[in-house]
Parts: sequence; C-alpha cells; structure tokens
Amino acid sequence: MKNKVIIAPSILAADWGRFGDQIERVVKAGADWIHVDCMDGHFVPPITFGPDIVRAARKATSVPLDVHLMIEQPERQIDEFIKAGASCVTVHSETCPHLHRTVQQIHHGGAKAGVAINPATPVSVLNEIIAHIDLVLIMTVNPGWGGQKFIETSEAKIRQAAALIKQINPSVELEVDGGINEETGKRCINAGATALVAGTYIFHSQDYGKAIGLLRP
Ligand code: DX5
Ligand code: ZN
Repeated sequence: MKNKVIIAPSILAADWGRFGDQIERVVKAGADWIHVDCMDGHFVPPITFGPDIVRAARKATSVPLDVHLMIEQPERQIDEFIKAGASCVTVHSETCPHLHRTVQQIHHGGAKAGVAINPATPVSVLNEIIAHIDLVLIMTVNPGWGGQKFIETSEAKIRQAAALIKQINPSVELEVDGGINEETGKRCINAGATALVAGTYIFHSQDYGKAIGLLRP
C-alpha cells in the first residue's frame, strides 16, 4: 500500500520564461513529481508542451515526470515522450479506441502507464484496464486550462475508483487533477486519492513549500 500522498505540481501554471528554475525551486520545496500537461489543440483547444519540453524538464530535475497527454492519437507520440524522459505517461480513455494496446506500448517503452478520464466519463470504463495500469487520473475539471473550479461530483467518482483499485489492483496510484487546493485536496484524499496535481495553487502562491505542506494531509 502507498503511505504518502504524492504532490505533483503542474508546470502549466509556472512562469515558462524561467522554466528550469521554476522546476528546481518547486522540487526543492518538496514536490514529489512534476506534472507536465501536453495539449494538442485538438482534443483540447490549447497547444502546450511536446517532447522537447519534457527533455528540458528532465535536465532540470531527477524526480519522476508525470506526463499527462491531452492529445488525439497518443500512440503516435508516446515513444518520443518516453525517449525524452517521461517516467509515467497518462493517456485519456476518450482518445484511445485500443486502450489496452496503447498501455502495452507505454510499458514496452519503459514507462509507467496511466489512464485519465474526463468529468463526464464513468469510472466503469476502467473496469477492464485497471489490472494493467499503474495510475488512474480522475479529471476534477474539464481538461484544457488551469485555474478552473473543482467539480463537486468528482468526489463520488474518486470513491468509486478507489474501490475498484482496492478490489483489483491495489498498487495503482489514484491521481486527481484540476481545481485542487488545500480544501478540495483534503476531500480528495479522504475519498481515496493518493496523488494530487496542483498548478495554480502552488505556482501562484508566494511560498511553494508552504503550499505543498498545506496540501499534505
Ligand atoms: C488541466 C490540466 C491540469 C491543470 C491543473 O487540463 O490537466 O493539470 O494544470 O491546474 P489547476 O491546478 O490550476 O486547476
Ligand atoms: Zn494535468
């Protein structure tokens, strides 16, 4: 069983002009992973980071890089992201008609595999894949932008996912992403989350260490 809640700051909310420095500072402040939000302008409207940015992040730190692919046809890009230094690659169930094959591809590349689900996607889509993955990502906002409000009905989904994980594959991390702050984060942890992604709450704070400390239970 996992004993410590993982804090994964999202560099989407960092100052991109001081990219490496921001990563070093947040790791020094206690970040366990760095969450990298990759968007393609198709699955979600914005375009953000590709494999070269993951490579730059890899140079800045040795902590795990938690790469969240909000892209169509992720199987075309996964190998490049892993070569660039992704430790865990998370794909959206909504983008993967052959999800089991995509998960095999991630593992074959040598990374951990995560599956994300949007707010309107039921937890039941994970039933058959849960035995094969390392991480579940419950989106607690609609993907695309930082700074959105936590969707309250997410809590019930976290509980459902936690029950599924407990029943079938207890080593799976249960990560939540979107609108996480000191208050919503605690509720997610109580519902069973083991990893919190937080962008705005950490990077827009004056003191990264204090913000990370407040997110921990
Ligand atoms: C949203 C991204 C999130 C985002 C979270 O599409 O997946 O990781 O950076 O940002 P906050 O913590 O500001 O809601
Ligand atoms: Zn994310």
